[in-house]
Amino acid sequence: MSQPTLSLFASGLTGETAFDVLAIAKKLKATGKDVIELQIGDSPFNSTKNALVSGVNAINQGMTHYCPSPGLPSFRETIAKNYFKEFGVKIGPENVTVGPGAKVFEQFFCEAFLNPGDAVLVFSPQFPTYKPNLERRGAKIVYSSLKQENQFRPNLKDVEDFINNEPKAKAIFLNSPHNPTGGVATEDDMKGLAKLIVGKNIALFSDEPYCHMVWKGKHLTPLAQPGMLDHTVAVYTFSKSYSMSGWRLGYAISDPKVAEIIGKMINTSLSCVPPIVQLAGQAAIENDDNERDEVMKKFHKKVEILVRELEKVPGVKVLMPVGTFYVFPDVSAICDELGIVSHGLAMYLLEGADENKGVACLGGECFGEAGKGFLRFSCAEPDERLIEAVAFFADAIKRQDRVNAYLEKNPKYRKNR
Ligand SMILES: Cc1ncc(COP(=O)(O)O)c(C=O)c1O
Repeated sequence: MSQPTLSLFASGLTGETAFDVLAIAKKLKATGKDVIELQIGDSPFNSTKNALVSGVNAINQGMTHYCPSPGLPSFRETIAKNYFKEFGVKIGPENVTVGPGAKVFEQFFCEAFLNPGDAVLVFSPQFPTYKPNLERRGAKIVYSSLKQENQFRPNLKDVEDFINNEPKAKAIFLNSPHNPTGGVATEDDMKGLAKLIVGKNIALFSDEPYCHMVWKGKHLTPLAQPGMLDHTVAVYTFSKSYSMSGWRLGYAISDPKVAEIIGKMINTSLSCVPPIVQLAGQAAIENDDNERDEVMKKFHKKVEILVRELEKVPGVKVLMPVGTFYVFPDVSAICDELGIVSHGLAMYLLEGADENKGVACLGGECFGEAGKGFLRFSCAEPDERLIEAVAFFADAIKRQDRVNAYLEKNPKYRKNR
């Protein structure tokens, strides 16, 4: 044997397809193709002003060394105060752990609470990295489908069944506002969830990157429900709210004992989040509310444009998202008609529909089986380009000849009619 074998986990590791499609889109663009990029959930706007200035100042002031693993004390203090201001939940810096974005907390949560064989309820379609992070700990995943006819809200009956009937039920992953569907759990959903969880040996991972992208009412966190701080790790990011995805900055709110454990996980893996990045985030929280809210309004308008345009396309069933900058139309009738699976349709729009132009988006199955028959569009392009993208889509689905030629080259996307 010339090389050591990989672990079973490594051999089956899956990631976010959005990054693969992003790479293809960039490659096509480099060859001169006009690609409208709606594949990844990134902001097209600059990081907010005070974040930029503070990041540069922090470099010039020499904040370029290690710092405490759970985060800079001043930043944790700022986050705790702001958390009460924004979500009405009273916490202190001991409840806060700073991390490089929101995603890595999936892994830390799993390491904190799960032993091999423990069962975890995941609402599906789901963020693609939940599965690998759960598999990393050998957890058993139980899926509960989010349905368009239920506005993609969590099904509490499934939660009840899971807790009562699954012998090793241990955790639930909730993501509200939800990527990819744009669904949001209501106050009643949060209350019902808390009633099922509080007092039991169940941990909740509450993934809340879109807390500033709620288009109806205010953002609700399960942490606001009595008793839920003992059960929950709620995670937030600067990627979406402050357009800071490349800085890698986020934080988790939890019980102090759990925060201490997550701090140790950062200690043993990352050491700390770069202080220059934390100081940029602190400035964003302290000074950039207005700019953030202006940007959120722009996203809301984009979502409305995209939905309005998609509603005009025959065969598309689309809901106005209650939150997030994603639109998730049901295109199953179009897929059936064309004989192509939904991610095949997405790739056809990018690669096959036209020589000189393409639209990059994702098939719903990139977010699990329950996403089959849907497309996910993000809104990361100028308003007029969104209109252009839907017009391109409407035209492309009329070209059965081109779809057939694409399927000839990519038979894996073929769907039986
Ligand atoms: C549901 C969900 N969780 C986590 C993340 C990761 O965010 P971050 O860039 O902060 O790691 C995203 C980003 O798209 C997301 O949509």
